[in-house]
Amino acid sequence: MSWPADITPARPELRGRSLLTLQRHTPADVAAILDLADELKGRERPWPQLLAGRVIGLIFERPSTRTRVSFESGIARLGGSPVTLHSRDLQLGRGETIEDTGKVLGRMLDALVLRTGAHETLEELDAAAAVPVINGLTHAHHPCQALADAMTLRERFGDLQGLPVAWVGDGNNVCVSLLIVGALTGMRITAATPPGYEPPAEVVEWADATGRQLGGAARATHDPTEAASGAAAIYTDTWVSMGDEEEAAARRASFEPFQLDDAMLDSAGPNAVALHCLPAHHGEEITYDVLHGRRSAVWDQAENRLHAQAALLAHALA
Ligand code: CP
Ligand code: NVA
Repeated sequence: MSWPADITPARPELRGRSLLTLQRHTPADVAAILDLADELKGRERPWPQLLAGRVIGLIFERPSTRTRVSFESGIARLGGSPVTLHSRDLQLGRGETIEDTGKVLGRMLDALVLRTGAHETLEELDAAAAVPVINGLTHAHHPCQALADAMTLRERFGDLQGLPVAWVGDGNNVCVSLLIVGALTGMRITAATPPGYEPPAEVVEWADATGRQLGGAARATHDPTEAASGAAAIYTDTWVSMGDEEEAAARRASFEPFQLDDAMLDSAGPNAVALHCLPAHHGEEITYDVLHGRRSAVWDQAENRLHAQAALLAHALA
């Protein structure tokens, strides 16, 4: 299938590619996805039918609002058909293995998106299915979120090279994926977490070494004030991710000094924005006023899931 003449041609390196983490993608891969996402967002509907005739499976082992609806909407707008599958309705829920499930679904569908807990489950699906597999969130990574985050920051600030970005809160899946996309776009990211909740040291080291080639950097601290100072954006996420529920009380106690409120935003750069991947817990990791205030980029961030993932799939399948 060829692209309409007015759409940026697909990047051959992205064709047929899975996305488990962005760590094996290059800065040019990320730029190509974001450029197409911008084109789709700026385009009058209807969108070019880049996924006409393609059927894409979305498997959810955990709940989702944004990931599910943005994929379903983006696929439909590009002329493809989504098939949403909840694990409780699949034989997966009765003990069929992910390997066997992947082998079968890969013969019927053109790509698979999976939201699951263990990252290894996603890797097993990718190894078994003969089609591109996309990470719709694991406990370790959330790369689709990171693409929308980078798109949102580009919209606000233009070039991302050298952009100071603070993460405050849990060094979780969203933090890890931000560090990775930040390295591939040259952001300078400081991740502030309580002791014991740092992002994995190997990810910070990789992001710092990779990011430095583009004028970026990555480092971890335990001081939210230091991270926020002078930042162009302050990003936070829930203190209790899916799968961490048993630790909820201890986490809430540890994370209290890391709340993103107006005072923290005031200490950032003059045009600083607040980021949150959602769902938010008002009065915990972010105040209602910041989330819904004039310095919030959160709603653009959520919308951009649609454009970024549509671009990702178009590059992989068109
Ligand atoms: N941010 C995000 O992934 O949201 P959902 O859990 O609603 O998909
Ligand atoms: N860190 C959160 C993100 C939800 C979109 C979680 O994993 O639950």
